[in-house]
Amino acid sequence: MGSRIIATGRALPRTAVTNRDLERFMETSDDWIRSRTGIGQRYTLRSDEPLAQLAAAASRTALERAGLKPSDLDAIIVGTVSSEFAFPSFGCQVQTLLGADSIPAYDVAAACSGFIYALSVADAHMRAGDFAKVLVIGADALSTFVDWNDRRTAVLFGDGAGAAVIVSEPGPRGLLSSLLRSSGRHWDLLSLRATGVRATLDTEIRRNPDDAIKMKGPELFKIAVKSMEEVSRQVAERARINLGDVSLVVGHQANMRIIKAVAERLGLPPEKVFINIERYGNTSAASVPIALDEAVELGRIHDGDLVMLNACGGGLTWGANLLRW
Ligand code: ACO
Repeated sequence: MGSRIIATGRALPRTAVTNRDLERFMETSDDWIRSRTGIGQRYTLRSDEPLAQLAAAASRTALERAGLKPSDLDAIIVGTVSSEFAFPSFGCQVQTLLGADSIPAYDVAAACSGFIYALSVADAHMRAGDFAKVLVIGADALSTFVDWNDRRTAVLFGDGAGAAVIVSEPGPRGLLSSLLRSSGRHWDLLSLRATGVRATLDTEIRRNPDDAIKMKGPELFKIAVKSMEEVSRQVAERARINLGDVSLVVGHQANMRIIKAVAERLGLPPEKVFINIERYGNTSAASVPIALDEAVELGRIHDGDLVMLNACGGGLTWGANLLRW
């Protein structure tokens, strides 16, 4: 018995911060950010907006579209590194907001690859017969962890949440294959000390630079391209699928140049690559489910299509899922 995504949802903070807004307090320009990353704006949480509420809103949309109630779920699995609490887990926080008591709810920490990991974990449980209906969420708020004086990282990240309802189902549709990879020795290319201090843009609180996201962008760029190309080829091979038969790649939206370089190396034409980074920036684990939800809404995905999800992020972690929609 395999698993299939039957509905998706997304939710964004109410505040959009454009590159021009950033120009007002940072030595940067709309031109630089657009040309080096493809980002035009990002949504950032305010101090009165808990990320868990955003994740619950995305989940409610996905559940409604699936025609299911929270009480129908067997598990909630969340890809996130942005929980406001070390414990309870983010999964438990969302569970309470949804009112889906007593089912297992837990987190998978794989930074930007969080949704890819969480989806793979959900699928494995469903194949084992443990769960029949699972809510898989990707939610992050990396804007609250940046040093706003560090223009090399602060301009990249936005906040958000995306959710997918997965049901176990026999037949040819659903998740065909997943591959997960990690390389802890590259931890220092992208890291964040766990201090619990958050700093939304609307407060005076500023993070100590030592406790903000640290990133070696150019090195990360090269590994991200290489690893996402490799894992995309490998997951297709594993599923015995020709890469050319993939209808749409919905990848992690970290940088327009990374997305395009991966597509080029895979020999995929632009129309087979979904890009929405211009409006959201890098929303970490939320980026793939937000993009997937938009792709579905825009009619870019049809029943029977082969859809590839891929991502790379802190850890380092990377991975891909191949789906027959
Ligand atoms: N505004 C204006 N100038 C800037 C900015 C900015 N926001 N940031 C950096 N610069 C300047 C630098 O100071 C540097 O100037 P200098 O040569 O005078 O020192 C110049 O621009 C070039 O800087 P680089 O860091 O070499 O720029 P690069 O072309 O590598 O782009 C970037 C930087 C966008 C971070 C790129 O390396 C990147 O995207 N890397 C991947 C990072 C990433 O995606 N991280 C997300 C998590 S991991 C993942 O999701 C895959």
